[in-house]
Amino acid sequence: MNNLFDLNSVIRPHILTLAPYSSARDEYTGHSGIFLDANENPYGSVTVEDYNRYPDPYQAEIKAKLSPIKKIDTQRIFLGNGSDEPIDLLIRATCTPEKDHVIILPPTYGMYEVSASIHNVKIDKVSLTADYQIDVDAVLKAITPDTKIIWVCTPNNPTGNVMQDEAIVTLLNNFNGLVVVDEAYVDFKDSVSWISRLDEFPNLVVLQTFSKAWGLAGIRAGMCFASADLIKILNKIKSPYNISLPAQRVLLEGLDGVQKKDEMVKEILKERASLRTMLENLSLVNKVFPSDANFLLVHFDDAKAVMDYLINEAVIVRDRSKVHLCEGCLRITVGTEYENEVLVESLKKYQQNSVIAQTL
Ligand SMILES: Cc1ncc(COP(=O)(O)O)c(C=O)c1O
Repeated sequence: MNNLFDLNSVIRPHILTLAPYSSARDEYTGHSGIFLDANENPYGSVTVEDYNRYPDPYQAEIKAKLSPIKKIDTQRIFLGNGSDEPIDLLIRATCTPEKDHVIILPPTYGMYEVSASIHNVKIDKVSLTADYQIDVDAVLKAITPDTKIIWVCTPNNPTGNVMQDEAIVTLLNNFNGLVVVDEAYVDFKDSVSWISRLDEFPNLVVLQTFSKAWGLAGIRAGMCFASADLIKILNKIKSPYNISLPAQRVLLEGLDGVQKKDEMVKEILKERASLRTMLENLSLVNKVFPSDANFLLVHFDDAKAVMDYLINEAVIVRDRSKVHLCEGCLRITVGTEYENEVLVESLKKYQQNSVIAQTL
């Protein structure tokens, strides 16, 4: 337990006292009545389905469904336009531009740095160790009185591995700002979510997303779990109707699909294992890194040439070869059995062409 943490000292003073926009749907939350309060079109929409009413600003029905799934009180759930929205809002809530700092642990997800840069917030980078773990001593040394957030991604993108629990606990216990644990890939790993430890650590914030295991990247919906007080702050500074009505409808339907999500995850894990085996059997692959996510980080002698060849074959992977500690690597999302076979066949063709080129 971090007894020194005081949320009020982490949130920017003007945000603490901010009077948020009060939307029409804040003032009256009932479902029936004659709605003449929000300047909507009473006749319906230009589309077949009606979208003429503003959506629930706090997504109460969705949170009521999500709460038992994630085993957390609705008051401790924030829903965003992708998890990229809470990433941005957490910075806005805590960091004064040109003064405050965040710590990121590269190689990691790019939006922590981009969001901080957008707000002109100072970024301190503490590299992961060579085996992609948190260098706890270096992180503790990098903390300044103006450090507001430490971003931890586990399983980490693009390395695919889980960060050691003890390292995260040490950060939580020794830092009086927020430790944000981004669990975008949590469904692809065995261990439990950090949501279960929110009561232990008042400075812990957990991010998850509907974009990966749930298969809902297109609707843009992410989750943030934290103390009820921090969730209140995020609600205060978000745009009033941040989750659109179509997205809310899809989420309500999607939350009935836990079983389907679990089945797809099982399939992805099976495909991850067979893709790993196929890749490891290729001589042009130097290393396939361990992965607790839905992608594999793969090291090649000439990643750029492999990437260019794959693009020509209309197989698109992510070039991470210029990223610190991922030099020479491509990040390959686990596809369907068919997609993975096409990828591997393309790599075999590349391999054969290279052998022919060498013998000429
Ligand atoms: C670690 C991590 N966090 C967050 C996100 C963003 O997810 P969303 O689609 O919910 O904005 C991604 C997307 O790739 C990610 O890799």
